[in-house]
Amino acid sequence: MTANTTDDRTTALVTGANKGIGYEIAAGLGGLGWRVGVGARDDDRRDAAVQRLRAAGVDAFGVPLDVTDDASVTAAARLVEQQEGRLDVLVNNAGVTGGMPQEPTQVSPDQLRTVVETNVIGVVRVTNALLPLLRRSASPRIVNMSSGVGSLARQSVTTDPLSTGPISAAYSPSKTFLNAVTVQYAKELQGTGVLINLACPGFVATDLNGFRGVRTPQQGAQIAVHLATLPDGGPSGGYFEDAGVIPW
Ligand SMILES: NC(=O)c1ccc[n+]([C@@H]2O[C@H](COP(=O)([O-])OP(=O)(O)OC[C@H]3O[C@@H](n4cnc5c(N)ncnc54)[C@H](OP(=O)(O)O)[C@@H]3O)[C@@H](O)[C@H]2O)c1
Repeated sequence: MTANTTDDRTTALVTGANKGIGYEIAAGLGGLGWRVGVGARDDDRRDAAVQRLRAAGVDAFGVPLDVTDDASVTAAARLVEQQEGRLDVLVNNAGVTGGMPQEPTQVSPDQLRTVVETNVIGVVRVTNALLPLLRRSASPRIVNMSSGVGSLARQSVTTDPLSTGPISAAYSPSKTFLNAVTVQYAKELQGTGVLINLACPGFVATDLNGFRGVRTPQQGAQIAVHLATLPDGGPSGGYFEDAGVIPW
């Protein structure tokens, strides 16, 4: 395989890109003329998404990837290295709710473990496996898909389910945890050129919420595409939605 470290095309990898917001992030980045790795754990769903993206003119390639599995993530990083030589943009989009209801008095340890394993540890696992390839990029960017429901400020001032989601002892706290970890990454990566930020897509109609969301996946993808295309010297360690900065 040829490693394209000197190629001037931009290459991105999106986790959980077979459907929902992740698919539309891949479509959006592909629309910029970028080459896009479709990270997905299921072979059929991944192949279908790659075919659909290619039919829409996107230079897409499949990357088998289960973010909860060390061997899968290691193999994904190896595939990107062998095929692309470097990575310019990583979008950590894959996420799960762990199933509702999950009131704190009812949540099971298994629910908590599953959600944190995917939404937090999965992001750390994927990021650390791909960072060596991102460091080869002139303008590396990492976007972590968080949610406004991870905002403790918002959770504390309102019970409006449109901005805080249902009471959840696993999903919302997993995004708060992800926010905290992302801030630590930003501190460690300061001065390296790697910009890492958190995106909230709004309340989007996808499988995640039984399609009860009020925004389209295309609308939800916009903030991630924006943070993936930040100029050098742009913000890092920030928490953003379309309307601007989200309070922690
Ligand atoms: N929808 C909203 O209103 C909303 C709001 C705020 C934040 N978000 C965040 O946005 C992101 C995308 O959510 P969505 O709404 O688009 O949900 P979705 O349609 O359910 O998509 C979730 C994606 O994550 C993938 N995934 C889950 N576990 C995985 C694993 N272990 N390894 C690899 N991929 C995995 C799923 O793959 P499979 O098809 O194989 O399950 C799917 O591609 C999530 O991080 C979510 O928390 C969503």
